[in-house]
Amino acid sequence: MNVLVRDPLDWTDVGAVTDIPLRGARRVPTPRGVVAIFRTGDGRVFALKDACPHKGGPLSQGLVHGHAVTCPLHNWQIDLVTGEPLGADRGKGCAPVVPLRVEHGRILLGQG
Ligand code: FES
Repeated sequence: MNVLVRDPLDWTDVGAVTDIPLRGARRVPTPRGVVAIFRTGDGRVFALKDACPHKGGPLSQGLVHGHAVTCPLHNWQIDLVTGEPLGADRGKGCAPVVPLRVEHGRILLGQG
């Protein structure tokens, strides 16, 4: 017997992966606030709320390196996978991770 399972998230196409430069980011306004989408040097993409866990700095304007971004305000390094600060600032909050998936080169953001 087949059972249909409804995806609890609504997925919105916000553009092509190639719209974001390698080691770059893009801001996407959503009904739940601005989301920062990052593309790393190895071509992966990640999405976090565009607010640093320190004092709300715009992570989308930070420097992307490896799978992390350095906040432009006070240089905290944020893990793009978990949204958590790295190094000495570990455990001091979190930038919420936004569900993201890539289909046929398009970026889809999920909202519940
Ligand atoms: S607001 Fe990001 S490090 Fe201070």
